[in-house]
Amino acid sequence: MKRLTTIAELRDYRQRLSSTQTLGLIPTMGNLHAGHLSLIRQGRSHNDHLIVSIFLNPLQFGPNEDLNRYPKTLDADLEHCRETGVDAVFCPQPEELGISSQDSSSCLTQVCPPESLTSVLCGRSRPGHFQGVATIVSKLFNLIQPDRAYFGEKDAQQLVIIRRLVADLNFPIEIIPCPVVREASGLAYSSRNQYLSDRQREQASVLYRGLAAAHSQFQRGQRDAKALLAIVKGELAQVPQVQPEYVELVDPQSLAPLTTIKEQGRLAIAAHLGSTRLIDTMLLTVRQPIVAIDGPAGAGKSTVTRQVADKLGLLYLDTGAMYRAVTWYVLECGISVQDEAHIAQALKNC
Ligand code: PAF
Repeated sequence: MKRLTTIAELRDYRQRLSSTQTLGLIPTMGNLHAGHLSLIRQGRSHNDHLIVSIFLNPLQFGPNEDLNRYPKTLDADLEHCRETGVDAVFCPQPEELGISSQDSSSCLTQVCPPESLTSVLCGRSRPGHFQGVATIVSKLFNLIQPDRAYFGEKDAQQLVIIRRLVADLNFPIEIIPCPVVREASGLAYSSRNQYLSDRQREQASVLYRGLAAAHSQFQRGQRDAKALLAIVKGELAQVPQVQPEYVELVDPQSLAPLTTIKEQGRLAIAAHLGSTRLIDTMLLTVRQPIVAIDGPAGAGKSTVTRQVADKLGLLYLDTGAMYRAVTWYVLECGISVQDEAHIAQALKNC
């Protein structure tokens, strides 16, 4: 695994990669945990080459935030990357990226995402945070030029902003969202969980219980935002040490508040537990997910698909059998297989 600390080393590494092969990027601030490792696993399985960036970005921390106490575990992070088959790690010092560690607001050109996305949810209490994220992510995209970049859905607002950034600034990069990874208690993995005592860790899992309780009412047909938010808030109130900053139901793309869910809604929570700020989120989707499973003949597609459908309570559709059945039906009807118009008509009655 290559360890790159300068832009020159990074450019040299990038230039040596074949233009026909794909490069995946996992941007991180270090202190890698199970959430990051799941991004790495996804990135590893999709791409010929995989690079992880480790950069504790001063631009995205406010003056009274936890930049100085944010956990720094570079040796362990490099070991995780080595074990999970990462090809290169880019871990520059702030100065290498033109950011002074003394004065992070130095005169750097910054990327300013639309206010409608940055002034809501976490943006309300963290002014400048998403500008700092957008600036560093743009720098990483320009320097690394990945084909795909992977981000956790736990930072749902960040993900929306990065997707918008990629569209608005025409980065030829596919953004891959990855599901929230949780501890057994339901607590979402986060580097900030390290600030919590064992007792607080237990208390913090109430965020997930709130989301899960609302989700279960949603599955029973509840679509009203007020009712769903009341369920989350009711659960959070059971643990008074957890002080909500916001509990909201928003449109997953525009982040505008919803009064009712027609297709999809994103529940989002930020809360304080002692001096630790926690966030969590869950997507509520009216449409059942569609999972496509393909593979070579005899690989066990039908068996796996049937079991997945069974477990997730989804319909099982064997498209291979469907095409064969349609062919049989068309032949039974005596229609020529070249006769598209009659086949289409026959299928309407099939
Ligand atoms: O999600 C994070 O860890 C950071 O916000 C990111 C995307 C690495 C930018 O510093």
